[in-house]
Amino acid sequence: MNASHRFSPPARRLAPSLLHVCLFAIAGIVASSPAVAQPAKVKVGFMLPYTGTYAALGTAITNGFKLAVEENGGKLGGREIEYFTVDDESDPAKAPDNANKIIKRDKVDVLIGTVHSGVALAMAKVARDNNTLLIIPNAGAGDITGPLCAPNIFRTSFSNWQPGYAMGKVAAEQTKKTAVTFTWKYAAGEESVGGFKEAFEAGGGKVVKELFLPFPQVEFQSYLTEIAALKPDVVYAFFAGGGAVKFVKDYAAAGLKNSVQLVGPGFLTDGTLDAQGDAAQGMLTTLHYADGLNNPKNRAFRAAYSKTFTGEPDVYAVGGYDAAQLLNAGLTAVKGDVTKRSELVAAMEAAKIDSPRGAFTLSKSHNPVQDVYLRRVEGRENKIVGVAARALADPSRGCKL
Ligand code: PHB
Repeated sequence: MNASHRFSPPARRLAPSLLHVCLFAIAGIVASSPAVAQPAKVKVGFMLPYTGTYAALGTAITNGFKLAVEENGGKLGGREIEYFTVDDESDPAKAPDNANKIIKRDKVDVLIGTVHSGVALAMAKVARDNNTLLIIPNAGAGDITGPLCAPNIFRTSFSNWQPGYAMGKVAAEQTKKTAVTFTWKYAAGEESVGGFKEAFEAGGGKVVKELFLPFPQVEFQSYLTEIAALKPDVVYAFFAGGGAVKFVKDYAAAGLKNSVQLVGPGFLTDGTLDAQGDAAQGMLTTLHYADGLNNPKNRAFRAAYSKTFTGEPDVYAVGGYDAAQLLNAGLTAVKGDVTKRSELVAAMEAAKIDSPRGAFTLSKSHNPVQDVYLRRVEGRENKIVGVAARALADPSRGCKL
């Protein structure tokens, strides 16, 4: 039978239009379906402070993260990124609601946050309950990489204990005998002071008084009067962000700068030097980052950051940058498939991050094992003086993974 005889005349007229309809339909599906055109974006949720005493820290973390993504062609693990943002206000009371909202309403694949240890502890609980991947770019709460550690929770910054312990060691080596500690009364301050006290007293010093005020209060005057009366060899203080700016200035204005040496974790002088000016000059602090670290990654990072954003990068920008690098290591291993969780986690656990701070790996509890530097403030820079503690791991007490 000849092919032209297979169709009756009406059917023959219908055939081309049906074909067209089908072709148009297929073309429409292809054009409108991202699943065919390109994979959906990875949803990244920033839960960070954008107001309050830690506002600048949240912005620096966001900037650092986005810089790493841009340097990677706008993608992580080959997939584009869609950002969701919530201002956590450094308020632990609002943290469970904020974390639940960004996980359940926005359905993020990864949660990035936060700065404040109390908020981060609440986030870690919500992340555990929902099995959401959480990368902490700053908050140092020891419990998160201690008893609350979990396969889906990682940290790219530090534990509060780490810089505190390193400074206690330095102060003891400098043969200081008596210390007063001063901080906000919440996990970060308490644990930072705890680390300092542990090393300082092991090295022969004595903490003679521990002073606290509620977060985020900045009425320091009566405490400064007490410090002047106690006359210790050294004061170890944990404050950060806007609070650190005011504290360092108030300390100098009270006339203490030249009589009682003030030291602290590097948060006391990181991202704050423009505002602290003369009051911070000469101060010694300990941190896993220093502005002038002379490695190729840090030089490139600092140049790219100041070209893209206003101001110089600080330790918070580094934490955000490395959070994106760590996520990229995981996503690359699973070719962007976030559902392959155990492979993704295994790749993150095994990652060696080429950080501006120097390369680092993670401990079993998912906390950086890293050098802690001794730095001195010179002008607008936290200049490296030496290494206060090499390859320092958090004790991660109580973590079972
Ligand atoms: C914290 O709450 O864990 C914290 C906040 C600010 C810092 C460091 C640690 O600079």
